[in-house]
Amino acid sequence: MLEFPDGFLWGAATAAHQVEGNNTTSNWWQMEHAPNTTMVEPSGDAADHFHRYPEDMRLLADAGLNSYRFSVEWARIEPERGFISRAMIDHYRRMIDTARELGLDPTVTLMHFTVPQWFQRDGFWRASDAVDLFSRYVETVLPILDGVKYVCTINEPNIAAMLAGGEDAANLVAYGLPNPDLAVADTLLDAHHRASEIVHSVSGAQAGWTIATQAFHSTGESGADEKLHEYGHPRDFWYLERSAGDDFVGVQAYTRTFIGPEGPRPVASDVETTLTGWEFFPAALELGVRSAWELSGGVPILVTENGIATADDTRRIAYTQGALEGLHRAISDGIDVRAYQHWSALDNYEWASGFAPTFGLIGFDHETFARHPKPSLAWLGEVARRNGL
Ligand code: NOJ
Repeated sequence: MLEFPDGFLWGAATAAHQVEGNNTTSNWWQMEHAPNTTMVEPSGDAADHFHRYPEDMRLLADAGLNSYRFSVEWARIEPERGFISRAMIDHYRRMIDTARELGLDPTVTLMHFTVPQWFQRDGFWRASDAVDLFSRYVETVLPILDGVKYVCTINEPNIAAMLAGGEDAANLVAYGLPNPDLAVADTLLDAHHRASEIVHSVSGAQAGWTIATQAFHSTGESGADEKLHEYGHPRDFWYLERSAGDDFVGVQAYTRTFIGPEGPRPVASDVETTLTGWEFFPAALELGVRSAWELSGGVPILVTENGIATADDTRRIAYTQGALEGLHRAISDGIDVRAYQHWSALDNYEWASGFAPTFGLIGFDHETFARHPKPSLAWLGEVARRNGL
């Protein structure tokens, strides 16, 4: 058996907007309903996780998992500038309590792409007071973070900076050409540092951000290696290097991209692809973890996302098995990895691609919201119980 370190966290992840439903005061809701939106459908009720989280968490815990990563929604906590919803603070506190009662160590993300509509209206990450506004929100949610060990300040700032570059949701679907707004990248780094300091006032809480990693491969043609570096730098490397000194870094890994002299290549037609059009490439996780370890100078790692969108659950299991074998190799080489949180606990709203790309260990009926755990949930739960493969 491939054993994992003692105390390793095995879990699954979600993000508020993608599963809760009716996140009506968020900027994404507004973009989904904009007249010329590029999004294939609105998020609507999503998976109604807002009301059904106890059932969902119980399914994860009963399967054998011992952690759950989810996000607190700023747009719900502060639906109007300066107005704090006590009821929503209570709601997320209950989620944290429920997770802990069920034996799921809660990993809490403070911002997973979505922001309140007023924040976007008032200048978004380009506003001069953006970091102050975000910090004020983080201070507001501090009281609910008691007992939470891992707090992810900002999810995928590298993708968020690209989104802010064009405010074009289609970028998110394609994980396409980097068009990062570098000023926004700096602002997000600043916001991350301020949020981390605030989080440290909660006893025992550790702070980090979660980075979208890509396994980049050069095609080997002349100029491709230079292009890889140029492309990879604003896309990932800059952020991983700036994780040095953090308590942990969240690694999120899915697939690989070939880089030629002209830039990223479309996925080859002769490889297996998933419902997002990405190459089925389980080794992405090991490569992402190794590069995060190297670039951050040895910051402890949590795998905060890894998975595939597929309607064939046997491929999800095969992918995860392959990814975990690679993760185990990295750990055996001395890399300090503390958690594996599969994306995703539940089928959900894949941003501009809508509900079709199903990443979940649990499916659900879109009319009744009845939950249908997939064999992959039981499989991962068994791995968790054995703490090994
Ligand atoms: C990264 C994001 O954090 C998450 O929101 C998204 O659904 C998954 N990866 C899959 O694309």
